[in-house]
Amino acid sequence: MLIRGAVLETIGAPRPYAASRPLSVTELELDDPGDGELLVRIEAAGLCHSDLSVVDGNRVRPVPMLLGHEAAGIIEKVGGASDLTPGQRVVMTFLPRCGQCSACATDGLAPCIPGSAANGAGTLLSGSVRLSGGVLHHLGVSGFATHAVVDRRSVVPVDPDVPAVVASLLGCAVLTGGGAVLNAGRPRAGQTVAIVGMGGVGMAAMLTALAHADVRVIAVDRLADKLALARDLGAHATYTPEEVTEKAEVVIEAVGHAAALEGAIALTAPGGRTITVGLPAPDARISLSPLSLVAEGRTLIGSYLGSAVPARDIPRFVELWRAGKLPVEKLVSATLTLDEINSGMDELADGRAVRQIIEF
Ligand SMILES: NC(=O)c1ccc[n+]([C@@H]2O[C@H](COP(=O)([O-])OP(=O)(O)OC[C@H]3O[C@@H](n4cnc5c(N)ncnc54)[C@H](O)[C@@H]3O)[C@@H](O)[C@H]2O)c1
Ligand SMILES: [Zn+2]
Ligand SMILES: [Zn+2]
Repeated sequence: MLIRGAVLETIGAPRPYAASRPLSVTELELDDPGDGELLVRIEAAGLCHSDLSVVDGNRVRPVPMLLGHEAAGIIEKVGGASDLTPGQRVVMTFLPRCGQCSACATDGLAPCIPGSAANGAGTLLSGSVRLSGGVLHHLGVSGFATHAVVDRRSVVPVDPDVPAVVASLLGCAVLTGGGAVLNAGRPRAGQTVAIVGMGGVGMAAMLTALAHADVRVIAVDRLADKLALARDLGAHATYTPEEVTEKAEVVIEAVGHAAALEGAIALTAPGGRTITVGLPAPDARISLSPLSLVAEGRTLIGSYLGSAVPARDIPRFVELWRAGKLPVEKLVSATLTLDEINSGMDELADGRAVRQIIEF
């Protein structure tokens, strides 16, 4: 079938993207789903910094690639036998879990091995490419398009009461930020949770921490507007990186710069955990005092996909959302059309956006 999607042809286009237009919204052919795959009509897709990192070359991926990895939609067609049926809404997740490899037996700790290999190659989990013209899949999703073919193991179904916009955000911002809190941070009553970097991922981490009524939550960002929003959404205190002196037992770094991780480590209380979620350039390095880690009994943890098992954790976030404890809608800072995607990338690069959502 013919679809419309945002394809990245060349990496490292100059700013502003509204002028250089690194993403071209074009028509291309999408093949039918193979066995174990699904054709999904995309309803909503969020712009995440990890998309921008492909555009600006911080995270080099093979091109041409149809970007977008935070999305939700309705199944239109099922390839082969499936436990899912047309008409169901699904959340896309950006790392398929094969369920068979040694990493998939680690309860979310390690990223799936064939899933990571497929993501690196720009294919679906089976190794297939369903897009025409040599265009590759982004993280098994390619959600900046009217339709996508995805592996069954890249999606989690949700009930129809979960709106499409909420469902899309569950797939990356909430699973990553919220999962980092619940699976890696695991704050206990009376502790302080600090979030460094208040984009979509950091805000989702903050909302998840606030869903624990018995923790203190502090937010750190360079931008005053982000701190104001964090206060509106319930942060108990907010600081710029220069201002912050308060220590926290659980610190989530959601920026993607070495300096921010160094700051997050410095913010971590004795006995505490620093969870790093940001994805800096591959050659980025930090400076760290090993002695202070040892002498203060602190832990540094890397968390991909929120250390989550999506099929287990998405329903947990849906329950929190249903109970009114996780107002995921509040992460939406703007709604765009697919044709506005390049200027959306500018907004994201300037730090002005929390989550911009493309609605189809
Ligand atoms: N680990 C994963 O699985 C995973 C998943 C999704 C995103 N990510 C990564 O997480 C990071 C955050 O993603 P996002 O979409 O929320 O990004 P974003 O660009 O929306 O937000 C980043 C925020 O950090 C702030 N910031 C910049 N420098 C700072 C500093 N030195 N100290 C404090 N705050 C600072 C910015 O003002 C902005 O508000 C990115 O690196 C992204 O690639 C990782
Ligand atoms: Zn993302
Ligand atoms: Zn696996």
